[in-house]
Amino acid sequence: MCGIVGYIGENDANSILINGLRKLEYRGYDSCGLATISNGELQISKTLNRIESLTAAIQNNGVSHIGIGHTRWATHGGVCERNAHPHTDSYKKFIVVHNGIIENYLSLKKMLKEKGYTFYSDTDTEVVPNLIDLYYNGNLLETVKKVTSIIEGSFAFGILCKDRPNELIATKRNSPLIVGIGNNENFIASDFSAILKYTNKICILENDDIAILNEKEVKVYDKNLDPKQVTIKEIDADDSDSEKNGYDHFMLKEINENTITVKKTIDYYVIDGKINFDLNLTDNDIKNIKQIKIIACGTAMHAGLNGKNIIEKLTRIPVSVEVASEFRYSDPILTENDLAIFISQSGETADTIACLELVKKKGIKHVSIVNVKDSTIDRLSENVLYTKAGTEIAVASTKAYIAQVMLIDLFAIYLADKLESYNKEELSKILNYAIELPNKMQEVLEMDSMFCDYAKSISNCRDVFFLGRGLDYYIALEGSLKLKEISYIHSEGTQFGELKHGPIALMEEGTPAIVMATQEKLLDKTISNIKEIKARGARVLAVTTLKEFPVDIVDEVIHLPKVCELFSPLEAIIPLQLIAYHVTVNKGLDVDKPRNLAKSVTVE
Ligand code: M6R
Repeated sequence: MCGIVGYIGENDANSILINGLRKLEYRGYDSCGLATISNGELQISKTLNRIESLTAAIQNNGVSHIGIGHTRWATHGGVCERNAHPHTDSYKKFIVVHNGIIENYLSLKKMLKEKGYTFYSDTDTEVVPNLIDLYYNGNLLETVKKVTSIIEGSFAFGILCKDRPNELIATKRNSPLIVGIGNNENFIASDFSAILKYTNKICILENDDIAILNEKEVKVYDKNLDPKQVTIKEIDADDSDSEKNGYDHFMLKEINENTITVKKTIDYYVIDGKINFDLNLTDNDIKNIKQIKIIACGTAMHAGLNGKNIIEKLTRIPVSVEVASEFRYSDPILTENDLAIFISQSGETADTIACLELVKKKGIKHVSIVNVKDSTIDRLSENVLYTKAGTEIAVASTKAYIAQVMLIDLFAIYLADKLESYNKEELSKILNYAIELPNKMQEVLEMDSMFCDYAKSISNCRDVFFLGRGLDYYIALEGSLKLKEISYIHSEGTQFGELKHGPIALMEEGTPAIVMATQEKLLDKTISNIKEIKARGARVLAVTTLKEFPVDIVDEVIHLPKVCELFSPLEAIIPLQLIAYHVTVNKGLDVDKPRNLAKSVTVE
């Protein structure tokens, strides 16, 4: 989704903003732009192309010491240059970049038009610089407070005034924004990757805080304009995480980090054969849990489905997996003995945050599984377990999914241990199987040439089916999402048994069907289902861990090393991630930045 970076300081804003925008590219965008002030002149450049073309556009810009940049993911108004940010007021005095949505912009626009303001874009954002101009009384801090008290919705703003080139303003409500503190230079950013090259000292703005930055200092005010202490945090992250390190694409690099991700997660949480979670949940709280709700979106929700399988098997506590955008409006039935689990890579997904707030309001105990430390979900949650995936740049989530699955698996074992709901010896065997996983996963990564060959055979297809039963269905769902989101091939992840109740109508001669078969007790049923689709002409690839799988009933087979069945998603997803990757490369598409998608979905 949209990204913001802003700079004020002794160095040249142009190159720092371009670098920051490059680091924000991974969030997904359809246009970008930046504004600087140089010798009293306002310079604005925008493009519908990639950040590189902005670099060319600003080549003749003079040196500037202040500026704001933006990557836009269109919500209000189509993808065109005049809708790209930054936006100014009619008189080109105030300049604004915005993440979020201003819900009452239509009435504000009408009011501003009646007062003689002219609008040049279709965006909700453009009302903001015009409102600032309307209410400007010589004190920008007071004016920004006035404007943010009128607007409804979510926002993070970077604001410049052409006549005040020594001041950069930032404010936010329900959309993340941080201030970065450097030496003789300060920054604003919607996520710290944009400024990590320059500083790891950040101050996280809270809702309705207003920050005023100059080259030397940062002041933060609360919504009553009372000064606040600037609390500085040091971010423990490495800028090299956002480099490709020799791989052609971030997605390929990140898939190859699946193994180390699982290893890091286990090493972090399993000490001397025991799972250590620092949670504010007493043994009694755990014993009282009557039902668990796992709430998430997209791939994180698929990791949640895997969680349902293992938690129910090991603890017999009923688990439901809820899509956050539905759950928040469903008037959910929650009782005091429920446990809610939130899963989010970014920790900034708007729908998941809204559900977390709802659950907190009802006083329900909760645990969040988050990859980005200091993200909104991290800060709002009473209990957090961190996935050890490191920064994930490619829009398609791969290693973060693996980390989520591994962590929720450990959480299930942890619950079962506390509840004594599963044979102790068996449980410690299961934990030992987890420890062996990275080696098995590495073997799968090394089979890549097979996945690459298979990808060639489906690159020009219109539809691909991903099929499975039970846990295999959850793997199929995630495989299908990977393929469609980056290759734009239509795909369906379907419960194999459900196929004949409708979707089988789409099976034609040669339709590719990828069948997951990792669950021994479901093998016979899976075989019957394969026969049904073969009879309709499907070209079947089986991905299996089962030695007894009858290879002659399918067209192709990928045999994976045998792992404990509970953990099969961790290795069986790897071929599907790599197939999606190779298909997309074959089609010449942008693997890391698929169209219409954003890494961090900060609007509902
Ligand atoms: O940051 P989150 O884990 O909350 O994001 C949830 C989804 O938006 C995300 O998993 C999305 O489905 C990915 N593009 C899938 O690859």
